Amino acid sequence: MRLDKLLGQAGYGSRNQVKKLIRSRQVYVDGILAEQDNLNVDASLQTITVSGKELEHAPEVYYLMNKPSGVVSARKDKEHQTVIDLIKPEDQREGLYPVGRLDRDTEGLVLITNNGPLGFAMLHPRYHVAKTYYVEVNDVLGPDAPAFFESGVVFEDGTICQSAQLEVLSSASDKSCARITISEGKFHQVKKMFLAIGVKVMTLKRLSFGPFTLDPQLAPGESRP
Ligand code: URA
Repeated sequence: MRLDKLLGQAGYGSRNQVKKLIRSRQVYVDGILAEQDNLNVDASLQTITVSGKELEHAPEVYYLMNKPSGVVSARKDKEHQTVIDLIKPEDQREGLYPVGRLDRDTEGLVLITNNGPLGFAMLHPRYHVAKTYYVEVNDVLGPDAPAFFESGVVFEDGTICQSAQLEVLSSASDKSCARITISEGKFHQVKKMFLAIGVKVMTLKRLSFGPFTLDPQLAPGESRP
């Protein structure tokens, strides 16, 4: 996180006040004078002092939420309620953010934390963190569908998806149900993958994300540590 942002979050005032503080040579990172507001720092790995006082490291928190449809997975939104708005007032704190994005109409598991590096690692393509979704589509999912997803779906614009695992739970001409596991996070990926096979996603719910699974005890909108 940028040094000025971190200090702002730690209660050292507005962006301008924090800048003044840094310029007045009162901020040190691991004993070295910090001279730039935009210095990248990590309070969990570095010791930051302001006017000789060590910055307290905010404890990391983690919440699993069952996101309802209609809610945006962002910190703030001008129009819609966000997953952060749904966190209980006593659990609210600076720096909370949802790890990755679900579409507004997608339901299910969202991980919310103030641990920046964890979110980065869980979303980084290099780590191929698996995500499983329950899907309802508006048409038949034929016997070839699992192999189609396994071989790497190609979108109309030429984007190639990594292999995905599809388990068809039921199939009929007006509604089919399936579970799909992907290990990347392209924009609207699951919906586009099903469009590539000629069906439209009607319901999408995330069941798991890496080691975390949706807690069946959580009603839509609820979260737990
Ligand atoms: N894929 C989608 O199309 N939408 C989501 O919300 C998540 C994955």
